Amino acid sequence: MRHPHTRTTRTTRLRLAGALTAGLLCTAGLAAPAVAAPTRAPAASAAPALADGLALTPPMGFNNWNSTHCRADFDEAMVKGIADLFVAKGLKDAGYRYVNLDDCWALPNRDADGKLVPDPARFPNGIKAVADYVHAKGLKLGIYTSAGTRTCNSAGFPGALGHEYSDARQFADWGVDYLKYDNCNNQGVDAKKRYTTMRDALRATGRPIVYSICEWGENKPWEWAADVGHLWRTTGDISDNWGSMLSILKQNLPLAPYAGPGHWNDPDMLEVGNGGMTDTEYRSHFSLWSVMAAPLLIGTDLRKASQATFDILDNKEVVAVDQDPLGKQGAVVSSAGGRWVIAKEMKDGSRAVALFNESGTAQRIATSASAVGLPRATAYTLRDLWQHSSSHTAGTIAATVPAHGTVLLRVAADPHWAAYPPAAELGLAGSPLLEAATPAALTGTVTDLGRTPARHVSVSLTGPAGWTVRPTTATTAATLPAGRTLRTGWRVTAPAGTPTGAYGLTLRADYRSPSGQRVTTALPLTASVVVRPPAGTSYLSDLPWLSAASGWGPVERDTSNGESAAGDGHPITIGGTVYAKGLGAHAPSDISYYTGAACTKVSADVGVDDEKGAQGTVTFEIWADGTKVASTGVLTNAMPAQPLTADVTGAQVVHLVVTDAGDGNDSDHADWADARVSC
Ligand code: GLA
Repeated sequence: MRHPHTRTTRTTRLRLAGALTAGLLCTAGLAAPAVAAPTRAPAASAAPALADGLALTPPMGFNNWNSTHCRADFDEAMVKGIADLFVAKGLKDAGYRYVNLDDCWALPNRDADGKLVPDPARFPNGIKAVADYVHAKGLKLGIYTSAGTRTCNSAGFPGALGHEYSDARQFADWGVDYLKYDNCNNQGVDAKKRYTTMRDALRATGRPIVYSICEWGENKPWEWAADVGHLWRTTGDISDNWGSMLSILKQNLPLAPYAGPGHWNDPDMLEVGNGGMTDTEYRSHFSLWSVMAAPLLIGTDLRKASQATFDILDNKEVVAVDQDPLGKQGAVVSSAGGRWVIAKEMKDGSRAVALFNESGTAQRIATSASAVGLPRATAYTLRDLWQHSSSHTAGTIAATVPAHGTVLLRVAADPHWAAYPPAAELGLAGSPLLEAATPAALTGTVTDLGRTPARHVSVSLTGPAGWTVRPTTATTAATLPAGRTLRTGWRVTAPAGTPTGAYGLTLRADYRSPSGQRVTTALPLTASVVVRPPAGTSYLSDLPWLSAASGWGPVERDTSNGESAAGDGHPITIGGTVYAKGLGAHAPSDISYYTGAACTKVSADVGVDDEKGAQGTVTFEIWADGTKVASTGVLTNAMPAQPLTADVTGAQVVHLVVTDAGDGNDSDHADWADARVSC
């Protein structure tokens, strides 16, 4: 991977957590090891929180960094425009308050009096004028500097090390309400000392200023910073992609015991709306940050945001999870096979429960009211915070969650549960892989999870235009008793010539509660149109894959993995041998092919590409459906290619998996040289 900008004193590099490997494996139907978060605050917990009454719930607002970095469009007009939109779009009402300036607001040099000078091209009227504008709207202003001699940007703006008291005074005089204090160019001075000095300098101004420690988790601030700052970054910088968001999630989750009112773990600012993830992934990002009681700092330029982006950021039921006054960070209940259950205790005794599917295929994720910490009760109310609908359950909390999706629920032991219809869980039995013009049989399920029957149940399955979808069983039931499942059979045919790829289907159920309330519930599904490899032996890089996931950059055909854009690799080279054919991946990786029970053998010469010096360590595995049929030990850059061959007779799907060998994925450029399948 690469850094978006250079810095001189940062030494660590962002790594994808090893656990990501396990999550990707789940697409091969494997169980990943559960990640257990500590359930109680460790005995040696952080020092008592600052007693200043600030940030009693996680700070909410905006910061320009993720959308602009140091580009020229970071300026007064942007900051004012965001403040205007906070009011006009209801974000202020939703709780967003801080409008924060990141790096690059200043000139590279202090003035003759040692004072910081706002860049006149960006802030021609100075910072005080911006603060006044923001304050007039009932909002607050934040600013940025580094606990070093220079900030992080390579242009090198002045840092506050050695100028703490005068810089804090200047910020307070401008009307600043929030300081993000970074870690670059720190000259090796002890972090606790640097951050404590600025705390004292801010305190000396007499102005209430939220203090955000940004040392990227390098000195475990969760162990010492509760009485230093109101929030502390726990990780390196987020970037606008799925792998980055996931890696940060996994680093921040185990720190749950350290968070509380006035002292929060900060997994970095939101990327929602910046374009590098799908809306499903952004809803997961926002749901997971909320369940972790993370600061919610919008990182997209709202002046250009889509309605879908506003709908995510403005979801007040999700924001209420983040802002719950009890101030608990949600903890992991289970995480096998990429099926994450994360539960957050709420002040009213309810639990916010995230069912998060890390994997690339839809999966059923299930837990129970008792597993998420609720007391025994006859039934529980379930509020779906994205669908904005309520139902009740006898105790099972379950849903089929789309790839990379999150179902976010608020579950309560509620004596009035009978006022709500029974929850219906929709599911699909069988994997939706179809060959064009060949009918495939699918079975839909509707299960009543409640204590009362569902009446007048009617089920439908719909597919893309031109597809034929016919029921093979009855699709209605007068009554579905509590706890029972209605199965409906379907024959689905994609027209001849349908290109390979993923297509949407929707399973829908309509029913009534005993008191006559109508409920419509829908499950979006993905069907893949596939082709069998031709008879004989083919290079896998010449065939369409079913799915391809890579720790950095896309999987490449016939070159190594260049880490970023498609087509940025080099000729596959292992131990000095160059290969014309093969697949170039970056650990953790999972590439799957449809073999339709028609193939017998997969083979490749595998190894770490020569292009990355001496650090890469990976293992290679071949899976036939849910069974590992071949694997290597740990391979390094220093080793020549190793032949790997697997018998895949009878497999519907073959997976080529690369793990990071348990040490993070730095430099793990994994080549499947000469990869072939025989059918
Ligand atoms: C560091 C921080 C980022 C951002 C940049 C600005 O990388 O971690 O959040 O503030 O500096 O240069």
